Amino acid sequence: MKIGIIGSGHVGLVTGACFADLGNEVICMDHDIAKIKLLKRGKALFYEPGLRELVQKNMSKGRIHFTTSISDTVRFAKVIFLCVGTPPKANGEADLAAIQRVAEAIGRNLNGYRLIVEKSTVPVETGSRIYKMIAENCARKISFDIASNAEFLREGSAVKDFYSPDRIVIGVESAKAKSLLLQIYKPFKVPILITDVKSAELIKHAANSFLAMKISYINLMSQICEKVGANVEKVAEGMGGDHRIGKAFLNAGIGFGGSCFPKDLSAFIAITERLQIPSDLLKVVVAINESQQKYFLMKAEQGLEKIKGKKIALLGLSFKPDTDDLRNAPAMDIAEELKAKGARLIAYDPCAMPAAKKLLKGMQFAENAYEACRDADACFILTEWREFRELDLKRLKKLLKHPIVIDGRNIYDPELMKKNGLRYYSIGRREV
Ligand code: UDX
Repeated sequence: MKIGIIGSGHVGLVTGACFADLGNEVICMDHDIAKIKLLKRGKALFYEPGLRELVQKNMSKGRIHFTTSISDTVRFAKVIFLCVGTPPKANGEADLAAIQRVAEAIGRNLNGYRLIVEKSTVPVETGSRIYKMIAENCARKISFDIASNAEFLREGSAVKDFYSPDRIVIGVESAKAKSLLLQIYKPFKVPILITDVKSAELIKHAANSFLAMKISYINLMSQICEKVGANVEKVAEGMGGDHRIGKAFLNAGIGFGGSCFPKDLSAFIAITERLQIPSDLLKVVVAINESQQKYFLMKAEQGLEKIKGKKIALLGLSFKPDTDDLRNAPAMDIAEELKAKGARLIAYDPCAMPAAKKLLKGMQFAENAYEACRDADACFILTEWREFRELDLKRLKKLLKHPIVIDGRNIYDPELMKKNGLRYYSIGRREV
């Protein structure tokens, strides 16, 4: 299949590379000239395990090309995936300006049947808006279809998630669109749900908001656990053992971040408000997420007696492991708060430091976790990178000026920390 990808960010590039690797001919378009130049040279735009190798392999086989030309993309591809950003506007609504620009350009360049597929997360009813924009900009009456095929991949495991999703959701309004998408997804041996475009659009927002709700729910439990001396991990295990609830996304911590959950929740709230449906449930999910960071800082303040003047080692800055993405990263907010309270910060992140150096001013960076902890008054674990799970605890204790570890991701067994002479504070578990 000849496939066009418009928007070569995280979702677009992973989608394009994986489709190419499945034997399709792919053209990835982006209006950012610098980005396309880098991609043409086989360089990575961001850290995503396995992606650079996949792009290079398919470039050498001539199955993936890069361009800044939307007209070349529309002329080349039979199926065009829209992967442009839909960032939040000041009022929380998804900003569809990029979608609009692209839809209008597709309309101007249409020269035969095309299937245009929404891959970015968009508000319900965007499909009909795209249809109108394309039709209005098309000089002749040319038939085309709109479909919705949201992507559920997670950063850090995007390539793996793309190849083995739990399910594929396809929203279509015509037999032709359905048949084209089924052809593209033929190699995937996973359930495929076929529905109408609006339901498919809603599924993405509904799924992400639900996952965020699970996280806020367990974070609320963690606060209750701390008050009564219970253990949130056991509570999560007991809850998750019920297959109707499930174990996933019940890890208490410092709250969710990233480019999707916060943005999708605010867009979904805006949608429910537009439809005059109460959105209190979704708003509470956001409020608990914000309170969880404050709660963590309060705990840190208690553990350290006061923050001002303390030297604090921060382990982890990205919003989750295996990515250098700092968007809405709880660690970044916590770093700013600690700085404002007068702490001296020294941070280490395996991947995100180049980006963090540009954003966090007045802060030191270390070459590794141990260097960050040298002579520090406390060590804060803010992202659960694998290497932080495997620290030499005896060495850590020796390096720290005061043996205090405040863990926002619950990656250590409190008893083990105690045995190693560390005072350990975690989330929803008793301090030791
Ligand atoms: C999410 C969705 O999972 C994915 O399906 C969608 O396509 C894009 O948005 P992503 O943002 O990459 O993916 O990360 P995810 O692994 O879902 O984690 C999001 C945030 O939730 C992270 O900050 C993570 O630390 C936090 N989280 C996750 C928890 O705090 N607890 C959990 O149990 C799980």
